[in-house]
Amino acid sequence: MVATKKYSIIDAETGALDRRIFVDADIYQEELEKIFGRAWQMVGHVSLVPKVNDFFHSYMGEDPVILTRDNGGRLHVFLNMCRHRGNRVVRADEGNAKNFMCTYHGWTFSNDGRLEHVPGIPEAYYDALAMDELSLIEAKVDTYAGIVFATWDHEAPSLEAYLGDARWYLDTVFNRRDGGTVAVGPIKWLQPVNWKTPVDNCSDNYHVPVTHASAAAVKARFIGRPRPTMEQQLVSDARHVSVNGHSITTRPTGSTGLEILAGVTKDNRERFERYHEETLPEVERRLGRFRATQVRLGNHSLFPNGVLGFRLALPRGPLLTEFWDFTVFDKDAPEEMKQALSAGHAQNNGATGLNEQDDIDNWRQVSEASRSPVARKYRQHVSMGVGRAGAHDDYPGVVAERYISESNQRHFYRRWEEFMNAESWADIPIEPMTANFEGTAALHG
Ligand code: FES
Ligand SMILES: [Fe+2]
Repeated sequence: MVATKKYSIIDAETGALDRRIFVDADIYQEELEKIFGRAWQMVGHVSLVPKVNDFFHSYMGEDPVILTRDNGGRLHVFLNMCRHRGNRVVRADEGNAKNFMCTYHGWTFSNDGRLEHVPGIPEAYYDALAMDELSLIEAKVDTYAGIVFATWDHEAPSLEAYLGDARWYLDTVFNRRDGGTVAVGPIKWLQPVNWKTPVDNCSDNYHVPVTHASAAAVKARFIGRPRPTMEQQLVSDARHVSVNGHSITTRPTGSTGLEILAGVTKDNRERFERYHEETLPEVERRLGRFRATQVRLGNHSLFPNGVLGFRLALPRGPLLTEFWDFTVFDKDAPEEMKQALSAGHAQNNGATGLNEQDDIDNWRQVSEASRSPVARKYRQHVSMGVGRAGAHDDYPGVVAERYISESNQRHFYRRWEEFMNAESWADIPIEPMTANFEGTAALHG
């Protein structure tokens, strides 16, 4: 007898999507356990903890975590919870400290997690406290191109397998240069939306000509280019690809990526073009000619909650998301370019960004519609391009025939089902890696 799956939220044939997953408090609690308790999640960047004893405070789902670089230079991610009664042991956003003292009763942990000092062991504990069993709770940690990932589940597959062929695309932005990247941020704000809606939206190319029409008009004037027509935006040779629940879009073949890069203006465009040309031989050595010249990562999400690069949709309740926004630059890019990119990023995707403000209002309404028992009877319609995605000769992953598609979104919700229906990682499938990772760039840079 085939066991019935607890969750069947998306119909593969019709794309009908059950709206309860955006509002139901019990489902939300289960997500914290089965998704955020298991998946690899971005928590920081090596550039945020450059020196020994540096630490950076972050989150995995709702759980506060401390990213540390210990005295020997090793990275750790710990649950920010004192093993005595559960107080937080770190209350700062970042800093440099060899150890962390809990301010409730003074238990003190080293930055490699060991419980180092407990006040009054003879008087309070009759000299019988098993201190070596009371280290901070540690997650499994790995890095991809300087971005630090962690998972609570020590049975999880390697980060390399988890990212799988998605890395083939991610490399074209995050793994271009020998010198690696730096992350600046985060800017943090709250959004009255379910965390899945901004993730889903990363592959929604369909909304761009309508939702961002006024932003596009302003930008076209600023950049000094004609505004793209609706048809130009809908018919594109860009790709829409899914791997392991990660959703990728790429820029058109032959693109330098400068056409859409936030921060490029008519005044600095030449500088960006020169940088592109100067660094191309290095990029080709690292990524191979095809990826260096014909593939450029566009909007994308990493399962579960990575949104457009190193940006996080952190769950704070079914209808509340804390957004963390980092900007990632090539470390060796000229300062003037970093500043232009930073300004461009803030003008587009960030608390002050034109695009972000356009988007949030849609996301809020989509989430709120799911609250109504009347509205909930009618499922979301995620049918665009059903049956029109598959393998491609040049691009790894499940590739949609067209750039305008909801194939990635269906795969994201399917991945959600796989995590929510699984007893353990043994039940969660991982797609085999098949991409040809030409060039010298590897997982660690
Ligand atoms: S809760 Fe931390 S020392 Fe008691
Ligand atoms: Fe948008």
